[in-house]
Amino acid sequence: MSTHFSPPSSFSIPTERLHISYIQPENPDHHAFIVHLWNTEQFIQTCGNTGIDTPEKAKEFCKNRVQADYNRNKHGQFLVSLKPHPDASLAESKLIGMVSLMKGEPPNAYTCPDIGYTMLPEENGKGYATEAALGLLDYARRELNVTGVFGFCSKDNPASRRVLEKLGLEFRGLRKLRIFGGSLDAVYATPEMSSDLTVYGIDD
Ligand SMILES: CC(C)(COP(=O)(O)OP(=O)(O)OC[C@H]1O[C@@H](n2cnc3c(N)ncnc32)[C@H](O)[C@@H]1OP(=O)(O)O)[C@@H](O)C(=O)NCCC(=O)NCCS
Repeated sequence: MSTHFSPPSSFSIPTERLHISYIQPENPDHHAFIVHLWNTEQFIQTCGNTGIDTPEKAKEFCKNRVQADYNRNKHGQFLVSLKPHPDASLAESKLIGMVSLMKGEPPNAYTCPDIGYTMLPEENGKGYATEAALGLLDYARRELNVTGVFGFCSKDNPASRRVLEKLGLEFRGLRKLRIFGGSLDAVYATPEMSSDLTVYGIDD
């Protein structure tokens, strides 16, 4: 069994304009923010309806899925906060999105994580998703020994595909992946990764 992973609430990965921080599964502000972020029209159109539409459901999700990912991998879903000025602390910064590094869930877990991101619609187009993802990937390389990284997204999500390109990932084709219920998705991977996805526990 994996041990309970609980980093201090003050921990963050700072970038030039942002703080990237772990979700605190008992923090009501985090529950409220997840409900807000995942129920914008833009999010539902691009990522679908999670069904997480109340703080109570968000709390259950954080205590179960988010914490389970942290326990297994020391990474998973992270919050993104915007600094009001370059020296601002995490506590002084405003929640604007999420960035993730996930390996799926057993029995459909895979061995190289995929990078994901969502920003509030009013914060789009300012480079925040790219900056947050680069910050998290750099931290994961240095501290968590994560090297290869996937990017999966709908073929019809040009903004997300552009972010994956800006992160330096290579397009590996449109694939129907079993882990996503057989939908046709654009697959990206870091250049050194094999084109044979079965190496990472992922089947067409
Ligand atoms: C995808 C998303 C995270 C991008 O966030 P962001 O902070 O605006 O991203 P960035 O500013 O770092 O980069 C966006 C890039 O996409 C480009 N872009 C945006 N809309 C585009 C479009 N319709 N067609 C082509 N490129 C587009 C931008 O011009 C920018 O590229 P550039 O720097 O070369 O000009 C944001 O739109 C979002 O939250 N969408 C809803 C959730 C989602 O789709 N998540 C991804 C799931 S796989």
